[in-house]
Amino acid sequence: MFITLEGPEGSGKSSQLPALADFLRDEGYQVIVTREPGGTAVGDQIREVLMNLKNVSIIPRTEILLFLAARAQHVEELIRPSLAAGKIVLCDRYGDSTLAYQGYGHKKDLPTLRSLLAYATGGLKPDLTLLIDVPVKEGLVRKRDNASEWNRLDAYDLAFHERVRLGYFALAEEEPNRWLVIDARKDKEEVQQAMRKAVKQRLEQT
Ligand code: TMP
Repeated sequence: MFITLEGPEGSGKSSQLPALADFLRDEGYQVIVTREPGGTAVGDQIREVLMNLKNVSIIPRTEILLFLAARAQHVEELIRPSLAAGKIVLCDRYGDSTLAYQGYGHKKDLPTLRSLLAYATGGLKPDLTLLIDVPVKEGLVRKRDNASEWNRLDAYDLAFHERVRLGYFALAEEEPNRWLVIDARKDKEEVQQAMRKAVKQRLEQT
């Protein structure tokens, strides 16, 4: 089963992932935790280029192709083999980030992005996507408080991040069976419980 976590900046989704993985392992599942951009040696090098605050000259098209290059490698090298081995793959961001950030955020053509995405992933889509939602200002404040996490993409303006968040809502509405929206303003334990419940329900359906 392929499960992805999505959300605007500072939703806390990444810090929820290890506890979700531990819970599933205790239930007897084999679990791989990974993230995008990254997840492979090549992907991590691409991540460094994308996140580096010095790379101010990167244009949106370059950004898109770098995210997709990292994703193509990730799908082929890690995600597909893990799924084929019967593991649960928990991935911090995936294709929906490209649609939300580059599509809705940068206003790049969504049909083009969708077809590039299909090319990069060979059509692999998540079985379940958890949208860990937080209002933009609140999320950015949380992230700024943790200066080591601040990256080049966070520096886009507030309107950009608002479009990203609304983009996520639009994506979730398009495919309500795949998405579940969880309010990240609840306390951490409640968010974790909501994530566990959604994953268990989906596992029981398969
Ligand atoms: P994060 O690891 O803190 O979530 O940072 C990843 C950043 O990259 C975040 O700002 C979202 C952005 N991103 C995109 O813009 N497009 C993508 O396809 C992915 C995977 C991430």
